[in-house]
Amino acid sequence: MFSVYVTGTDTGIGKTLASCTLLHALRAHGLRAAGMKPVASGCERIDGEWRNADALALQAAGEPGIAYADINPFALEHPLAPELAARDAGIDVALPPILDAHARLAARADALIVEGVGGWAAPLSASLMQADLVRALRLPVLLVVGLRLGCLNHALLSARAIAADGAHLAGWIASHVDPAMARVDDNIAMLRARMPAPCWGVLPHAPGADPAAIARHLRIPMLAE
Ligand SMILES: Nc1ncnc2c1ncn2[C@@H]1O[C@H](COP(=O)(O)OP(=O)(O)O)[C@@H](O)[C@H]1O
Ligand SMILES: [Mg+2]
Repeated sequence: MFSVYVTGTDTGIGKTLASCTLLHALRAHGLRAAGMKPVASGCERIDGEWRNADALALQAAGEPGIAYADINPFALEHPLAPELAARDAGIDVALPPILDAHARLAARADALIVEGVGGWAAPLSASLMQADLVRALRLPVLLVVGLRLGCLNHALLSARAIAADGAHLAGWIASHVDPAMARVDDNIAMLRARMPAPCWGVLPHAPGADPAAIARHLRIPMLAE
């Protein structure tokens, strides 16, 4: 079973798009692949249950028939830092429900894509960092780099922090989120030269793109072996 934790250089830079695209690439390869968003803040009530757009997108892109509660064990209403959203909801975000849900998904899938919150140093709760979850599940980390001015700094700092927290950076994906960014190819070349892990692909600027249609831009090293 292959499971990877997807973090990013920031919030709103393409983690969900990259995660859904990875799910399509894995499933096109014949693998049973499922997504997970352990902690999500910003939910709406659908048929009496809290539902988050990222988790729904991962559910739609992944293996059919997987229970929402396993994909997103912590669905917090307010679109805030999870610590604040959990406090507002009177919920204690803790590891055991996440580890249990991950184990249930692992029993049904060959590959899991676990999307984090915000960037790497965004806390999951007052006492839980994303690094704690990654260490508990022993997951390699994939960094999504949102291509915009400043992304070299964010990408290299994130790579350093991931290593300093004792996690393994398995690769990175660039997402061309900002169409106004100048010298995109030069920036990607600078990232390739400096990042301590391989690039799994560059997602082109494609507003509203269907993740299935851009899956060919990814090359997942585990599939090439
Ligand atoms: N390569 C891209 N091309 C066009 N729009 C993108 C791209 N990557 C991300 N976006 C857009 O940016 C927004 C944030 O992306 P998302 O994947 O939700 O980021 P995150 O999960 O990091 O918060 C979404 O509206 C998404 O469609
Ligand atoms: Mg997201």
